[in-house]
Amino acid sequence: MSRVTLSRYLIEQTRSHNTPADLRFLIEVVARACKAISHQVSKGALGGVLGSLDSENVQGEVQKKLDVISNEILLEANEWGGHLAGMASEEMDNAYQIPGKYPKGAYLLVFDPLDGSSNIDVNVSVGTIFSVLRCPDEQQGETGDLGEDAFLQPGTEQVCAGYAIYGPQTMLMLTLGNGVKGFTLDRELGSFVLTHDTIKVPESTKEFAINMSNQRHWEAPVQRYVGELLAGESGPLGRNYNMRWIASMVADVHRILTRGGVFMYPRDGRDPAMPGKLRLMYEANPMAMIIEQAGGAATDGSQRILDIQPTSLHQRVPVFLGSKEEVLRITAYHRS
Ligand code: AHG
Ligand code: MN
Ligand code: MN
Repeated sequence: MSRVTLSRYLIEQTRSHNTPADLRFLIEVVARACKAISHQVSKGALGGVLGSLDSENVQGEVQKKLDVISNEILLEANEWGGHLAGMASEEMDNAYQIPGKYPKGAYLLVFDPLDGSSNIDVNVSVGTIFSVLRCPDEQQGETGDLGEDAFLQPGTEQVCAGYAIYGPQTMLMLTLGNGVKGFTLDRELGSFVLTHDTIKVPESTKEFAINMSNQRHWEAPVQRYVGELLAGESGPLGRNYNMRWIASMVADVHRILTRGGVFMYPRDGRDPAMPGKLRLMYEANPMAMIIEQAGGAATDGSQRILDIQPTSLHQRVPVFLGSKEEVLRITAYHRS
């Protein structure tokens, strides 16, 4: 049986779902960048890529060397191909302008170049999360700088979302809005090969993911819900739950796509100015699209994540995503 590479899958999508050629090219380039990042990540101490820099990003987080390397790989791979009108990233304060010497295109690429970077130095899975939006017509091909407002579109407008996970295997999980496909990097072939054709998040689960160390800061609905999970068989939910927390969103979401579960990063009382930790544009939105496309649900406690109208590039939101039954339960607790 011949193997379906990412390239072949994308060509088939062009035929069956009218995926535009420039979007196909864009995804191929992102996948190529992820391969390069995977390569860098896997070098570890041998490549001198571990550890932190002296710099901080716009969110006041210390940048790891690999955060910056990954960001540069994505920028360099994508800036020249003529498929993008601009880029935005966790690691850059403002929108990235396509250099004047290169052609501009119709799409916007938003990414978290390296997610879970606190896990890099301890050799635990990390990843790259990305989201593709259309650049509003009136801002395409303009000679001036592309403003932040071009990016501020709700997640429902994403034409594609995906992530690469750099773990025991490097995988690329992708949605073009008609289901989720999983590709595994075949290092001998140098290509991503379709290995997970039907990805479905089970509707119910007995597994949850939350950073329990923040318990004292949570709001009442989350206290109630997690209290019920911990009460197990003799509690109101009548069954025992298991807990996992990898602290790399990609790895936690990947587990949920594989065997179900509910992932929570709620708003908490540590810093009233921070409504949650995760960023809407390049963490919550792409993951919400993937989870929904796999039959799961994603809310911020009160509304569907994909319906949120963004107000800034680095906006943070509370996140509840995964198996439908549990996400709907915790969302109902916020409403009651
Ligand atoms: P990043 O490394 O891109 O800043 O993202 C880290 C995020 C996410 O991957 C993870 O779910 C969460 O931070 C973990 O947070 P805690 O360290 O608070 O558990
Ligand atoms: Mn992240
Ligand atoms: Mn990151």
